[in-house]
Amino acid sequence: MRIETAPRIDRCVALRRAVFVEELGVPDSVEFPGDEDGAIHLLALDGTVAVGTARVVIDGAVAKIGHLCVLPDKRSRGTGRALVRAAVAAARRAGATTVTLTALRDATALYAGEGFVPVGAPFEAAGLPHQRMERRW
Ligand SMILES: CC(C)(COP(=O)(O)OP(=O)(O)OC[C@H]1O[C@@H](n2cnc3c(N)ncnc32)[C@H](O)[C@@H]1OP(=O)(O)O)[C@@H](O)C(=O)NCCC(=O)NCCS
Repeated sequence: MRIETAPRIDRCVALRRAVFVEELGVPDSVEFPGDEDGAIHLLALDGTVAVGTARVVIDGAVAKIGHLCVLPDKRSRGTGRALVRAAVAAARRAGATTVTLTALRDATALYAGEGFVPVGAPFEAAGLPHQRMERRW
């Protein structure tokens, strides 16, 4: 498995549609509000097969990681963690000193293992439990 910066976003969009829209029931308009311009899209590849993705948006010293997903039959092999690490590395390269994200509650342990701490109280969005988290350096 390797992670690359996607030259085009179509494969990342297809993965996000499969996981967030079809598996988790997030409305298409919430997952794809038309804010992809300028974002860094990461793609995890198993051979030539796209298995996971994550997105990083840089806003000055703050980077936001989002839309992390791995296909259901490819999970629990370290791909999600590798994507988080690649996203943090991309944020550092871009000069960010803080990385923020909104974790689906199930994924908080994954982010905590990568140095993220909870910020504020858990909340619900799109019918799913979320927790804001951040990491600074
Ligand atoms: C969250 C997700 C990206 C993790 O991908 P993955 O490739 O399975 O993750 P990894 O194999 O790298 O797991 C890393 C660690 O996180 C933990 N973890 C991952 N997903 C978890 C979950 N849903 N619940 C609890 N722990 C989880 C694993 O136990 C693992 O820890 P370990 O190695 O100490 O056992 C994947 O489950 C997914 O796409 N879920 C649906 C979409 C989603 O929730 N995205 C996150 C949005 S914030």
